[in-house]
Amino acid sequence: MTRIRKAVFPVAGLGTRFLPATKTIPKEMLPVVDRPVIQHVVEEARAAGIEHFIFVTGRGKGAIEDHFDDAYELNAVLEQRGRKEDLLRLKSETPKPGQTSFTRQQEPLGLGHAVWCARELVGNEPFAVLLPDMLHDDATPCLATMIADHAHHGGNVIAAYSVPKEETHRYGILDLAGAAEGTPKIHGMVEKPKQGTAPSNFAISGRYILSPEIFKILETQHRGAGNEIQLTDAMVTLMQSQPFYAHLFRGRVHDTGHQLGFLTANIAYALKRDDISQALRTALKDLL
Ligand code: G1P
Repeated sequence: MTRIRKAVFPVAGLGTRFLPATKTIPKEMLPVVDRPVIQHVVEEARAAGIEHFIFVTGRGKGAIEDHFDDAYELNAVLEQRGRKEDLLRLKSETPKPGQTSFTRQQEPLGLGHAVWCARELVGNEPFAVLLPDMLHDDATPCLATMIADHAHHGGNVIAAYSVPKEETHRYGILDLAGAAEGTPKIHGMVEKPKQGTAPSNFAISGRYILSPEIFKILETQHRGAGNEIQLTDAMVTLMQSQPFYAHLFRGRVHDTGHQLGFLTANIAYALKRDDISQALRTALKDLL
């Protein structure tokens, strides 16, 4: 079984839900506690053994590239001030030279098109896709479990989580033929089904392990939901020739692409931090 070495992070989205905050700052750089959303997701990938991080960016997203680079001047100042711990932490969190690649999605044509933009950088091997909006909070990183599922079953693996019926129209929804345990085979999927037509309440949660044959399909993929080139539609075509399995994620998913999910993620992650959780509990009680 081919090892999963590369991960694609589609980070070209405009982040209009967070205007005006995202007028000059990429939405992926908004912090959850003290690290940008994108860093949490890159750390999940790193913890799963990913060695090469491919970012599909767009205009105005330069801060992401700078964030994953060594900040020479900052390091020098921290060194001078004797802030050894901060310095070591920053260094250990920065990918090694050559571990990152950046390419641009020149037009906002949709997630499928963004993934297709990474085809030359991925090459002919199975790879992971992580959508940075979605934080997966669990003791075992979601992608690590998916890679283990992939080593066991092969094929393609999609993470999903259960969402309330009224929200299914916001996501890609899986047809699992009634299965709700383990790593069931996926029988179908539909992107943003109309209210009341979803085949289940298992939503694609933004973590994928895909075989490289997806790129050939994406090349000619017509626009789908929202008039965008959808990854889900290309996966439906690939399902005709390759198996797809669902990883039913049981931890907590924070959809930080919406205000409520973003705020909840901040509180949830802060409550797990020894240095601030107690004070935050007191402040929350006070506010409520
Ligand atoms: C994308 C995917 C969708 C998935 C969702 C998770 O939609 O197309 O299948 O459920 O991410 O966040 P988007 O949020 O880009 O509209």
